[in-house]
Amino acid sequence: MDAREMKIKAAAAALEHVESGMKLGIGTGSTADEFVRLLAEKVAAGMKVEGVPTSERTARLCLELGITLRSLDELPELDLTIDGADELDARLTLIKGGGGALLREKIVACASRKMIVIADESKQVETLGAFPLPIEVNPFGHVATRIAIERAASRLGLSGALNLRMAGSERFHTDGGHLIIDASFGRIPDAEALSAELAAIPGVVEHGLFIHIASLAIIAGPAGARTVT
Ligand code: 5RP
Repeated sequence: MDAREMKIKAAAAALEHVESGMKLGIGTGSTADEFVRLLAEKVAAGMKVEGVPTSERTARLCLELGITLRSLDELPELDLTIDGADELDARLTLIKGGGGALLREKIVACASRKMIVIADESKQVETLGAFPLPIEVNPFGHVATRIAIERAASRLGLSGALNLRMAGSERFHTDGGHLIIDASFGRIPDAEALSAELAAIPGVVEHGLFIHIASLAIIAGPAGARTVT
């Protein structure tokens, strides 16, 4: 089974949690895209859902496939969000933001009664941090913000390259017009402590650590999909 087939398996298992009438948060990334494609088949067959997309990219795919979209302001309380992750540990702490949508993803997930993470088994790790942590920053003073992040990390014994994300020769901009610094700390033994340090830096808009947000994860491997709570 290749990686795409595993993503489809996880997405299909997540779809079993979706009921007609639900207000859904819809994630971003290649795994979330598989979920959107399967959801669109159900919608075409008569299932009624309203979705709040976590990115412009997801919005485009949903609209192409006929899924009804609303803004989060129209639907500020959602039943369920389904989204991918870049890494997850046994406590369902996540690193997200590889696709640059972490701010909207976190806002939407936190507005939902439940968040289901869908992933292939390569995303499951013992300790977070091999995947560089995306940190969304305001463009104003981003160099000063990077230095503040470096200092905050070093107070926790963390170090590593902090790279401004690029899209070709241009700086990558999020849907909200912010920049992303990808922080290669290698290991993040205390995600809560790092989250608190980052949240205290004024230029940091949001970071990709999702702590106590996911309710369950559906992890797909060659043997099929299993649920982790
Ligand atoms: C986007 C994300 C994605 O969920 C994460 O990058 C996983 O993507 P993929 O399913 O393509 O591996 O956080 O901001």
